[in-house]
This record gives sequence, structure tokens and C-alpha cells, in this order.
Amino acid sequence: MPAMILEDHEQGEVGRLASRDLDGIAQYIADHARQVVVLCGAGISTSAGIPDFRSPGTGLYHNLQRFALPEAEAIFDLTYFQKHPDAFYELCREMWPGNYAPTACHYFIRLLSDKGILQRCYTQNIDSLEHAAGIPFDLLVAAHGNFDAAHVVDDNVGLASSYDVDITELQDALHDPGDEGWQELREYHGGLVKPKIVFFGEDLPERFFQLQKADLAKCDLLIVMGTSLQVSPFNTLLSLTPEHVPRLLINREAVGSCEELANGFNFDQFDSDCQDVFYQGDCDAGIESLAERLGWLTDLRKLVAMGRQEAEELQHSEKLPCHSAFTDECHETF
Ligand code: OAD
Repeated sequence: MPAMILEDHEQGEVGRLASRDLDGIAQYIADHARQVVVLCGAGISTSAGIPDFRSPGTGLYHNLQRFALPEAEAIFDLTYFQKHPDAFYELCREMWPGNYAPTACHYFIRLLSDKGILQRCYTQNIDSLEHAAGIPFDLLVAAHGNFDAAHVVDDNVGLASSYDVDITELQDALHDPGDEGWQELREYHGGLVKPKIVFFGEDLPERFFQLQKADLAKCDLLIVMGTSLQVSPFNTLLSLTPEHVPRLLINREAVGSCEELANGFNFDQFDSDCQDVFYQGDCDAGIESLAERLGWLTDLRKLVAMGRQEAEELQHSEKLPCHSAFTDECHETF
């Protein structure tokens, strides 16, 4: 491979990719990248058995007919939740963390962290699999919240603004099928209890806004995986990457193009300084190819196997709500 040329950059050094493909990215990681920022979405968790949102046929929004929602996004709409909480609670039962094991993508991010070159991982996912994979909390931004915390949504005010509740209260309330559990919890707290998952119309966590500017300014490699980049403000993170920083998209289809988003991807212009690389395909396959080129594949596979075993053990030892819709199995664990 040709040697890389380094050029000065205000907030660090932007290296040149030897080639605009996985080989080039792997060499760049090995030789240069020290502040990698990862942006990810539902596509990194589909191989764990959790559907994404927008894939035709298999995405969650396509498969919500059983809840008779006015439109699919209503499942994450505060006003709808306050009127018809049962649909969202049913979804909570299915998505509750612990029922699923992290994928190769989650563990690849963990390896970046272990090697001290992860600046931050911004995830849109609410499955907490990044943390389950061992990525420390301080290197994570759960931009759309997750099941780590819960709060009471005031029935009258219409805003999820009131006090925090221990998430285990909600977990216990949802353990058994039916509405009794969450109804009792609502009565006890004087309002519906909701995991701190960001609904449409709610603000993203402050951490998202506090860290983004500095993280992206420092970033010397951006990896985007498994997201349609359709949801704002998450997709505006792309606009913050410094010019010419190498960026890798791993996804089934090209997303976030420069025609759609400010400073969006440009995979076609080979004569420019642009260093955007697109791996089209499954996230796990792309990540495994990258890991192989880096000599990390054995470690990655060990972590994936360990994660599967841990998730299995957890399912047999903890009080997880039963889920049945995403997989054929019901992980009833009492
Ligand atoms: P989407 O469902 O919008 O997009 C997932 C993307 O990943 C699509 O481009 C898929 O083609 C791709 N994909 C799916 N499985 C894949 C795989 N195994 N390998 C490669 N690519 C794959 O999901 P997000 O972009 O994450 O909000 O959606 C963003 C937000 O919209 C979510 O966080 C959610 C939703 O409203 C909340 O949960 C609050």
C-alpha cells in the first residue's frame, strides 16, 4: 500500500487514506486514528434479533399493525402514549434489555475503546447493547435515551417533565402480561411511568448537545453504521465532522448523502479531497472484514461468543419481561 501523507489540521491531524475502501480504513486505524467517533443506529442490532425501524417488511414501523396505531411513529409520541399506553408498554416488554446479546458491531466499538482510540460512540439505539458490550458509560451518548432510567409523565400537563422513578419499578410492573401492572404503577405515582426513551417532541439528553461539538472537532475518523440518518438532530452530527476527515459508512444502502444533509456523504467524487468510504452490506460482515484486516477478528469473535453466553445466563437468572414478537422464543425467566 502507498504511504500515507499527513496534513495539518486545526484540531488534530487528518491523515490521507491509502485507498477509499476497507483496506484504506484499516491501515488508517492502525497507523493514524486516535479519536474515532462512531454514530450508530438500529442496523447494528438487527442481527441480535431486534428489528430496525424503517426497513420495508421487517422494520418495527411496518410491524406495528397489531397495535392499530394512527401512524407507526405514534408508538413514540407522547400524546398518543398518554391516551393509549398499552401499545408502548407491550413494545417495552419485547425490547427490554437483557433479552438480547450484543453483536460484532457493538464489540468492535468496545475494541476501539479497549485500544484507547474511541473518542465517543453516539447511538440512537434504546437497547443498551453498547454498554452490555462493555463500552464505558463516559464514552457513550445514548442520544435517544434507553431503559436505564424512568420518569413519570404527568397525565395532565402533557409533558414528560416530572420526577424520576427507579426503572426496576417499571420492569416489575411489566413483568406479567396485561395492563394491571402499569395501571397500578400509574395510580401509585400519579402519572404514567415511562423509560427515559426520547419520544418525538421531547428533548434529547443534554449530554448529546454538550459533547458533540468538541467530539466531532477532534474526530480523526468517523464510522457510521446501521442507520438511515433520517432523524434529526442526530443526523446533524455529520455536519460537524471537519473537512476531509475519513468517514466510513457501513450500511445496507447509501444514506446521508450530501444532497440530503449538510456535509453529507459523497462516495462518488474520487478526484476530490473527500475521504468518504461506503461498505454496502450487513454491518456484521463489514465490521468482521475490517476487524480481519486489523488483526482483531479472533478477539472480536471471542467477545461475541462471550456476550451470547452472558445473555443466556442473564435470561435464566433475572426477572426480565417476557418477549415474543421479535423472535419465536419466549424468554420467560422466573
Ligand atoms: P432505521 O430503521 O431508520 O434505519 C436502519 C438502517 O440500517 C437502514 O438504512 C437499514 O437498511 C440498515 N440496516 C438494517 N439492518 C442492517 C444490517 N444488519 N446491516 C446493515 N444495515 C442494516 O433506524 P435508525 O436510523 O436507527 O427513535 O432510526 C433512528 C431513530 O428512528 C430511532 O432511534 C428511533 C426511530 O424513531 C427512537 O427509538 C426514539
